[in-house]
Formats: sequence, structure tokens, C-alpha cells
Amino acid sequence: MNSQEMRHPPLQFAQWTHAMQSRIEQVLNEAMPASTETPETLHQAMRYAVLGGGKRVRALLAYAAGEFCGANVVEVDLSAAAVELIHAFSLVHDDMPCMDDDDLRRGKTSTHKQFGDATALLAGDALQSLAFELASSEQCAIGAPQKVKILHCLAFATGSRGMAGGQSIDLESTGILLSQGQLAQMHALKTGALMHAAAMMGAYTAQDTDTKKLEAVESFAKAIGLAFQVVDDILDAEADTATLGKTAGKDAEQDKSTYVTLLGLATAKSLAQSLYQQALASLDDYKQEADMLRGLANFITQRQF
Ligand code: IPE
Ligand code: IPE
Ligand code: MG
Ligand code: MG
Ligand code: MG
Repeated sequence: MNSQEMRHPPLQFAQWTHAMQSRIEQVLNEAMPASTETPETLHQAMRYAVLGGGKRVRALLAYAAGEFCGANVVEVDLSAAAVELIHAFSLVHDDMPCMDDDDLRRGKTSTHKQFGDATALLAGDALQSLAFELASSEQCAIGAPQKVKILHCLAFATGSRGMAGGQSIDLESTGILLSQGQLAQMHALKTGALMHAAAMMGAYTAQDTDTKKLEAVESFAKAIGLAFQVVDDILDAEADTATLGKTAGKDAEQDKSTYVTLLGLATAKSLAQSLYQQALASLDDYKQEADMLRGLANFITQRQF
């Protein structure tokens, strides 16, 4: 990425999203080992799982929170890439037969179906390592204290008190009706933790962000992270496979605990709406510097896939 290409003029949200999605695609493409590099099959599987698909919501969150706190977009690139790699790793494993056993992801055959279980397992592992390699690399031109905060935040969100822990609760609670509190905890961990990390990593990239702004990002990210999984549950029940690019109706088929099973569609939708309002309220004290975060909150809660 060209380091002269710094802060962009105030683009409309749709244009900004498009620009940032292309940007992260390029960053990821350049950061991933070539498919011709040994071991070819593993590298091909990693590239297959990461490139050419996905909404890139976590990268967008990192960029938007970075912009809100005054970070340089170039400096956010590797954090945004790192969080997308962790997300892609979580999807590869989530789709495996030992978890959700899904054959379709991002409109393509899922990674384990395409490359086999062993390669998919290794691809997930290697994507996780690559995420930390990128976020800690010398190419990431931010100060060491900021880098350590970013790495700590990503590590915490990925582990047993974050995404992996949420996935464990998800598997253990299959076939069981959770309370709303238990469900909120599961969702906050399996999905919310990484969304929260994405936003905080963007925010930590900026130097000397005041506590009030960091708290605003934190409370925004918590609300929108939960909203994201509530909407994922709604779409699983309502949308079709072609639109989603993943198998619709899986949650019901596998007897998963979701906001739809717990509250019903209508109440789940009003919960998503109230989490959206809650996310917006976190930004009340801010003007146009928070517009991309507001746009993202809208995108996350109104999305059709
Ligand atoms: C799907 O995430 C898995 C969840 C955590 C709900 P996304 O809906 O962000 O998936 P992609 O990256 O756009 O494919
Ligand atoms: C997956 O949740 C969350 C993670 C991958 C961490 P889901 O199982 O609901 O995601 P989809 O619906 O398969 O994308
Ligand atoms: Mg799952
Ligand atoms: Mg799944
Ligand atoms: Mg789902």
C-alpha cells in the first residue's frame, strides 16, 4: 500500500466501504504466502479460505475505529488483516464435520470439503499464526507499546475467554435451551469478542486517544458485536442459501440455541434494533468523525447476508 495514501476525504459510507474492502483484499493478498510456495497445498487452502469473499466487517470496524480516533489508515492495515485472518480461521474450523459440518461458505465449497479435514485444520492453525505474525511485524509502523496492546487484545479475543470459548459453549449447548443471559454470553464470546477486538485494535493504533473516546469505541463495539450475531441468527432462519452464500436453516437443523429459538423472530428483530440504537448512542458526543462507525452499525443490523 502506498504510504502517501493517508486519510481519505469524507466519502459517503458506501464508497468508503467499497474502498476499504478493496484495500483489505489487497493487503491480505500481499501478506499471504503465494500458492506456489511450499507447502503448496496448505498455502492454497489458506488463500482459498481468506481471499475473494466475505463482507470484511471486522476489517471495516478496525478502519472505522482507527479513523474515529485519528489513526493513519496505513497503520491500521495489518491489524485489520490480522483480525480478518483470525475470523477466516474460525470459519474454516466452524465448518468442519466436528463442529457445524457445513459444505458451503462464502458461496464456495467450504475449505475442508475442498482440501480435506487435515489440511483445513492446519490452514486454520496457520492463519491464526499468520495473524499474530502480521500484527507484530516490523512493517506495522506503530510504536511498541501500541503493538503490545493490539496483540494482547487480539490474543484475548481469540482464546478461551473469547471466540474459542464461545464456540465451546455453542457446541455444548446444542439441543439445550439456554437462558437469555447464557445466550448473550455465548454470542458475546463467539462473535462479539473478535468484533470488539477489531474496533479496539483500530482505536489503539492512534496515539494518545483520550479515555472517553476509547470508552465510546468499547461500548459501541460491544453493542454491535452482539447485534451482529443476533442478525446472523435471524438470517439463518429467514434468508436463503443463495443469498447467504452459506447453508440457510442450519441452526434449526442442528438444534442450536439462538436468539430466534429463544425469543422468536419478531423479538429477535427488535433486540437487534435496540442494540443498533445502543451502539449509536455511544457515539452521541461525536460529529462526522464517527460517521463511518454509524454507517457500519447500520450496515451490520440492516444487512441481508
Ligand atoms: C459469519 O461471519 C460468522 C459469524 C461470526 C456470525 P460474517 O457474516 O462476518 O462472515 P463473512 O466474513 O462475511 O463471510
Ligand atoms: C460462528 O457462528 C462463529 C465463529 C465462527 C466464531 P455460526 O456457526 O453461527 O456462523 P455461521 O452461521 O456458520 O457463519
Ligand atoms: Mg457455529
Ligand atoms: Mg456455523
Ligand atoms: Mg450462524
